[in-house]
Amino acid sequence: MLRQGVLRRGVRMFATAVAPREPSAHTIAVSKAQGISNNLTEAIGNTPLIRLTHLSNETGCNILGKAEFMNPGGSIKDRAALYVVLDAEERGLLRPGGTVVEGTAGNTGIGLAHVCRSRGYKLVIYMPNTQSQGKIDLLRLLGAEVYPVPAVAFENPENYNHQARRHAEALDNAVWTNQFDNIANRRAHIETTGPEIWTQTEGKVDAFTCSTGTAGTFAGVTRYLKTVSDGRVKAILADPPGSVLYSYITSGGKLTERSGSSITEGIGQGRVTDNLKQDIDLVDGAVSISDAKSINMVYRCLDEEGLYLGASSALNVVAAKEVAEKLGKGSTVVTVLADGAYRYADRLFSRKWLESKNLLGAIPKHLEKYIVLP
Ligand SMILES: Cc1ncc(COP(=O)(O)O)c(C=O)c1O
Repeated sequence: MLRQGVLRRGVRMFATAVAPREPSAHTIAVSKAQGISNNLTEAIGNTPLIRLTHLSNETGCNILGKAEFMNPGGSIKDRAALYVVLDAEERGLLRPGGTVVEGTAGNTGIGLAHVCRSRGYKLVIYMPNTQSQGKIDLLRLLGAEVYPVPAVAFENPENYNHQARRHAEALDNAVWTNQFDNIANRRAHIETTGPEIWTQTEGKVDAFTCSTGTAGTFAGVTRYLKTVSDGRVKAILADPPGSVLYSYITSGGKLTERSGSSITEGIGQGRVTDNLKQDIDLVDGAVSISDAKSINMVYRCLDEEGLYLGASSALNVVAAKEVAEKLGKGSTVVTVLADGAYRYADRLFSRKWLESKNLLGAIPKHLEKYIVLP
């Protein structure tokens, strides 16, 4: 078993609501976890599950967000980063002093940078040269060697993912972690995120929904919750514009329509990745969420809940609200608060940017006070 951490802050939500009981395997895990994490990687996961009070009261449901922005690298992707590295170690592909290579411009790179520093590996990142200087600088300051390369289609051998693979193949003691099709990514969520959600809700969860990039999170959590609940927990995939999965799922696998594009980052997909493939038959449905709804929820979560969320997290919250409304009053729906707004603030809270994306009208008048940048 790869699982390293044990529940640290789990069962917070119901802890005060239920009478004291005999310790279960889970409560023993919780009590064991009060101590010291031996290194950074043991501090990954075991994030709080936060009740979104306004939305819950408004819908008469429990809408719960897994606070993944509290991971050491600031996002859900720390979990995948840890598991792809542990998996490479387990399979003997990575030995002390080795090199991890990945193609990524986002949170996976940041997660890998932290994990690699903590475990003594070098990290090499390939990314399309269309990415901001800020992202390149951040990865470099976290110790990664970064190669921005021309942004070309996946079919082109010069695509950043293929360059990453070739870089690893040319080195001794190196691995291309291949987050999209390496199912150690999904395993992170079968072994950590899913069990945490089940424990924190004491099994009182009716549905799980989130958007997908690699789909490691959605597939892994879905697999775990379906298994532990005997199929009772519903799994609904949330999709932004420009992604094909909404049409794929709602057409029973017949269509892969891609219309529009999205301001969200880290999510949206043009294919069924290996991480999703094995669990696609477990999916109960999909919802498509517009950018206007997502940006509106960024501002609402900030104002009503004090949550400073990136757009993909806000999209997930909109999806959770819609799923809860469909399931009816009293239902409990869990989603993922994948990261904070810190890396996106210059866009999400800029009047000029909102205007350029035609999204200014999505912000209600009383929330315009949060548009603090020109
Ligand atoms: C902000 C954000 N949200 C959601 C996701 C999607 O997670 P997954 O790759 O597990 O589908 C990512 C992935 O990089 C992300 O960066």
